[in-house]
Amino acid sequence: MCVSFYIVSATLIRLVGEYLFNQKADDELSAAVALSAAAEAPLCDRDADALWALARDHAGESGRVLVLDLYGTVQADSLSQLNGTRFSRREAASVLNGHGADYGYYFSGDRGAILLSRALAGSMVCVYAAPIGAETLRGVLVYITMSQSAYRSLMNIQTQMLTWLVLVTIAVMLVSLFVSRFFTRPISELNEGIVEMTRGDFSNRVRVRGKNEFAQLAVAFNMMCDRIESLDKARNQFVSNASHELKTPLSTMKILIETLMYQDPMDPGMTREFLTDINKEIDRLSSVISDLLTLVSIDGGEKPMDAKPIAVADLLSENMRRLQPLARERGIEMTLAVREQATVTGDASRLTQVFYNLMDNAIKYTGRGGTVRVELSRREKRAIVKVIDTGIGIPKEDQQHVFDRFYRVDKARSRDTGGTGLGLSIVKQIVLMHGGRIEVASEENKGSTFTVDLPETAEK
Ligand SMILES: Nc1ncnc2c1ncn2[C@@H]1O[C@H](COP(=O)(O)OP(=O)(O)O)[C@@H](O)[C@H]1O
Ligand SMILES: [Mg+2]
Repeated sequence: MCVSFYIVSATLIRLVGEYLFNQKADDELSAAVALSAAAEAPLCDRDADALWALARDHAGESGRVLVLDLYGTVQADSLSQLNGTRFSRREAASVLNGHGADYGYYFSGDRGAILLSRALAGSMVCVYAAPIGAETLRGVLVYITMSQSAYRSLMNIQTQMLTWLVLVTIAVMLVSLFVSRFFTRPISELNEGIVEMTRGDFSNRVRVRGKNEFAQLAVAFNMMCDRIESLDKARNQFVSNASHELKTPLSTMKILIETLMYQDPMDPGMTREFLTDINKEIDRLSSVISDLLTLVSIDGGEKPMDAKPIAVADLLSENMRRLQPLARERGIEMTLAVREQATVTGDASRLTQVFYNLMDNAIKYTGRGGTVRVELSRREKRAIVKVIDTGIGIPKEDQQHVFDRFYRVDKARSRDTGGTGLGLSIVKQIVLMHGGRIEVASEENKGSTFTVDLPETAEK
């Protein structure tokens, strides 16, 4: 770009120079032509005095005027040096050969420059030759000038333009540097962010500047970092929770077994009690493991979802039938109210897990004499299932967490009732997998309502 800019300005400089020079040359040539008209009469009359006066008067401070006859012999010289000699310069010869007015220019170092005794170093000498004689050629008028000022101004313009060229080049370079930094900086920052992330540091965020596409990219990148960071935290949390959940029954079992081993005389009733406890811990362990396996298989999408149209009411009454004995045992009245039939498309065994877990929780967290009501209705092409209990309820601050893995509102109590804390997170995963939603509304000591809505099968 700089090169092309340089070429353009050099051409411009030359054109300006030529223009200025041509204008001056035209002016001076027409002056020479005018003078040649005045010289015709004295030349014809061979009036040497008049010719000399004319030459001297028009030569000016730094110029020179010569009048030549048809043979190129000098008839008058404003400096009175060349009288009688032949003047054989190209310009004069060209006029004598009938080619009309002509001019040429020389630099003061050139041989032609000696024409002007006062030619200064660095100045330009111009030689103009104009034919004398309106009808027939009678001689040549030679007008020699030194064009120092024009030359100087040309040089001035050239230096000025050169200065501008340099300034503009610097400006262009600075601007392009700035622009390229402006564009590359966000990219390199983003790049650094990505490198940091691949090293495992998810806390890094890139700076967002302005509102352009780079800023949008940075925002998207930061959002991705947020997500990955929270996933990473959740994963760590999950691993530590899972280890804890597995370790607790193991430690309990170890203590029980050691007691059995080292306390020699133990009555059979006591031994049986210990073994019952150990058996319970094994059950806990296996239920945690089977819940974990369920979660992993849903998360990993291991088994492709086997989607079929399912009548929700059938699914609910089936679960109800399975849980009725447990409810009865706990003195809880459980009812199903099908307001409207609804069909959803999904995996029957997974959806069974959803409603089983919700009903099981409702029974588990409701005291003797309470009720559990299951309702099925429809709204806006969605099947809506509500599991309503009159149990202990969930405190406001815990409601948003109950779907988290291993989250239990009352740790000790829940463990007693045999829960793993994974039930609702499994429920949520399955509901989401079916394009549904789940929410909870609850008031402490009054009861909880879990609402699941699932998209209905489109009718054909
Ligand atoms: N119907 C309910 N009433 C009161 N609390 C509930 C109910 N359902 C769930 N919870 C609370 O949410 C926690 C998480 O439930 P869940 O994931 O099923 O785990 P758990 O294995 O303990 O049942 C439970 O420990 C309990 O504290
Ligand atoms: Mg549960």
